[in-house]
Amino acid sequence: MRVWAVANQKGGVGKTTTAVTLGGLLAARNRETLLVDLDPHGSLTVYLGLDPEQVTGGVYELFQRAASGARADPGESVLATRFDHLHIMPASTAMATLDRQLGTREGMGLVLKRAMASLTARFDTVIMDCPPMLGVLMVNALAACDRLLIPVQTEFLAIKGLERMLHTLDMIRHSRGMRLDSVVVPTLFDRRTRASTRSLRKLRDEHADNLWEGVVPVDTRFREASTAGVPLPQMSPDARGVEAYARLLRYLEDNDEAHRAAS
Ligand SMILES: Nc1ncnc2c1ncn2[C@@H]1O[C@H](COP(=O)(O)OP(=O)(O)OP(=O)(O)O)[C@@H](O)[C@H]1O
Ligand SMILES: [Mg+2]
Repeated sequence: MRVWAVANQKGGVGKTTTAVTLGGLLAARNRETLLVDLDPHGSLTVYLGLDPEQVTGGVYELFQRAASGARADPGESVLATRFDHLHIMPASTAMATLDRQLGTREGMGLVLKRAMASLTARFDTVIMDCPPMLGVLMVNALAACDRLLIPVQTEFLAIKGLERMLHTLDMIRHSRGMRLDSVVVPTLFDRRTRASTRSLRKLRDEHADNLWEGVVPVDTRFREASTAGVPLPQMSPDARGVEAYARLLRYLEDNDEAHRAAS
């Protein structure tokens, strides 16, 4: 089982879109896929047809049980979606209180990592969608994942935001005491605008390490798909945006192979 986290402290850069589109692509290939919604706003949960105000048994309960020392099967926090091979560990609004409840408690940084260890037989890939702020949930995701995807909108301010995220990542790498591969994914690219082409150039000049060479273009069908509550690969497999994410997936998988061969 591989575990990918999608994170960036900047909001609205395409994190949830990246998680649901890669998840949709994998599910369409019959790979058992788990999406974990770590954002208290629950965009991914809503996308897949659940109500974060009503959810019971998702990420929140997982952390509650861990905090109370109760032993429970993390599999109980996983729900099926209406798409074959696509599962979700949903978010609920109560998660917004987790930082206050658990933020300073010992051992609360590894709740997701431990939970994932008991799901390895069930899933091929887990994709965690992080909230746009650093807190106990993002820290858990960065400790649990074996790869981090950082979507960055091709726009000037977003690149500033990337620097903050990379700084966070340095801190986490230090505390993990092990490597954590990251891949920067340029998103919302509009080749007709100077802002997009200039910021892509800036990314390539200044962040060439770990930068995926492709781009995810602006594609209005992403918004249509989220309104319809259907991952774009399931709705329009030929959309430009889907093709871009399929290229990203191929890149990630080729890289996985290279790592396995090297280790
Ligand atoms: N490549 C794209 N083309 C067009 N629209 C996109 C694209 N990627 C994302 N969007 C749209 O931009 C908005 C923000 O995207 P998304 O929710 O994925 O970002 P996010 O980083 O998860 O945001 P947040 O930080 O609030 O969780 C959404 O309305 C989404 O449909
Ligand atoms: Mg989001």
